[in-house]
Amino acid sequence: MVRINENYLKLKAGYLFPEIARRVTAFSEANPSAKVIKLGIGDVTEPLPPAIVAAMHEAVDQMANTSTFHGYGPEQGYGFLREPIAEHDYQSRGINVSADEIFVSDGSKCDTGNILDILGTDNRIAVTDPVYPVYVDTNVMAGHTGDADEHGRYAGLIYLPVTAENGFVPELPAEPVDIIYLCYPNNPTGTVATRETLQKWVDYARANNSLIMFDAAYEAFISDDAIPRSIYEIDGAREVAIEFRSFSKNAGFTGVRCAFTVVPKELQVTASCGTQVSLHQLWNRRQSTKFNGASFIIQKGAAAAYSPEGRRQTKQLIDFYMTNARSLKEGLEAVGITVYGGENAPYVWLRTPNNLSSWDFFDVLLSKGHLVGTPGSGFGASGEGYFRLSAFNSRENVETAIERFKAAID
Ligand code: MLT
Repeated sequence: MVRINENYLKLKAGYLFPEIARRVTAFSEANPSAKVIKLGIGDVTEPLPPAIVAAMHEAVDQMANTSTFHGYGPEQGYGFLREPIAEHDYQSRGINVSADEIFVSDGSKCDTGNILDILGTDNRIAVTDPVYPVYVDTNVMAGHTGDADEHGRYAGLIYLPVTAENGFVPELPAEPVDIIYLCYPNNPTGTVATRETLQKWVDYARANNSLIMFDAAYEAFISDDAIPRSIYEIDGAREVAIEFRSFSKNAGFTGVRCAFTVVPKELQVTASCGTQVSLHQLWNRRQSTKFNGASFIIQKGAAAAYSPEGRRQTKQLIDFYMTNARSLKEGLEAVGITVYGGENAPYVWLRTPNNLSSWDFFDVLLSKGHLVGTPGSGFGASGEGYFRLSAFNSRENVETAIERFKAAID
């Protein structure tokens, strides 16, 4: 008899974004003339930068010729991409990360889930609340939790609330934890972590032999020089942190797929037999077995993001979305909405008006404004009463969205 992974039965009905898509499709079918504007899922809308397109075209031509054709590449990624990542994202900023500590992949969502392959099943795991749902759901799938309660909180996970009341800074856990997920700039709240906050977490991890999973997928949106872009800017982080980064949002790769994970060589964990084990080696072993590397063409495109033109063009893309974020923030504040984030991140996080629940406000915006956002409660119980709008859209749609938002709450 075939058995399934019954942990999947513990998951809430749908992953957040497909659930939103389902509701929007139902609305659109019932209201075919409504032109719905989507500021829900953080999916980019602008074309790839020309330098990246040119590099991918060139790579396709290489694949069309016997003498330049590429078959399987290195599972860890090509040197032509790992080296510029190490140089531009780390070393030029004085951060100690070498090319062979970078593992190129097809997405940070996959990496944050897959990393659980190399970790044990009895770790005490802390997540912020609200949180990017992938961290929670992948731990549920791996059998690291019990069932969810009526608020959607899974037994066995330690939830660290991040709300306006604590300035969106998670308190250190009251009980010792082994694994901590941190995402900065934060998805969903759009808030950032100061150097002091990150130092506090790194010190905690060192004192408690914990591992920090640091998701830095939105680091390119930081404009404030005082805010760290990498966990490895923090003293001691190389011994306790894995960092996840992505080309999805800064280079427009949500549909292209390329990301990378940094596993420093200092990162050692004690096995039950007492031996020190390198997570770098384990992750290398895992990737070499279960992954054949991101495609050559895509990696060529990603590498072009580091050329002088590529860097200028990706910066323009980021500035474009951040202008949207500023318009959203200012437009909503002008009508009395309390707004967080949106300054160093492409998400604005707002208090729902009139104390509406997150999903009730979702329905109001959709039905009256034909506008889609993401209910804060979809990211966790402490997100109730909040709502997220993404800055990833055309300027025209963002301006229209602001007017529709105002009209819908009138
Ligand atoms: C989001 O909207 O939270 C993101 O697009 C999700 C993701 O990057 O997977």
